[in-house]
Amino acid sequence: MIFSGIAIVVAYLLGSISFSVLFARLFKGIDIRNHGSGNAGATNTLRVLGKGPAILVLVLDICKGILAVWLGRWLAPDYDWTPALAGLAAVIGHNWPLYFHFKGGKGIATTIGMLATLCFVPSLIAGVVGILSIVFTRYVSLGSLLFVTLTPVVLILYSATGWHDYGTAVLVVSIAIWALAVWRHRGNLVKLKNGTENKLGSKSGGKE
Ligand code: G3P
Repeated sequence: MIFSGIAIVVAYLLGSISFSVLFARLFKGIDIRNHGSGNAGATNTLRVLGKGPAILVLVLDICKGILAVWLGRWLAPDYDWTPALAGLAAVIGHNWPLYFHFKGGKGIATTIGMLATLCFVPSLIAGVVGILSIVFTRYVSLGSLLFVTLTPVVLILYSATGWHDYGTAVLVVSIAIWALAVWRHRGNLVKLKNGTENKLGSKSGGKE
């Protein structure tokens, strides 16, 4: 039990490392949270710093989710809930980072890492739909929301058809992740509804 607690706390501290904030400071001497959409994530890094730093932020943020789940599995191999909760803690750290005044991102890249590690095929199916929607609409927020919405749906379908049951912990945490992502994207949802959401490649960002 104590090791589960340690895994979850360390995962939160790991998630709190905000690479977009660090790179924006390092490369441009600015706080990314005052630029573009104001979000501390890869999409806004693309707007504010360009392709190279954005890819780096995306990869490193994904790695936070992967590492958190691995840590949970390593420290508490007998508890299904620990890797799932450690992954969730990393996303919470990304969104509300301890080291950056609790003002972080929307958690999608870290979610990709943790869900892909917890339930690879369902998150891959959801991810393909999310990516296709970004390709066709150029709305990253819409693709992100489709990804987090479809992952629990595919998990439920998998278990209902008897194909594979990833367990209650993964399902409950994926639903919690969905709720967090919807909450963090509430500004994007209003802009999508009004037709004012930024498309991939646009520089403005429309700070929320
Ligand atoms: O993952 C974040 C993305 O879904 C939206 O980012 O900066 O356009 O609000 P942004």
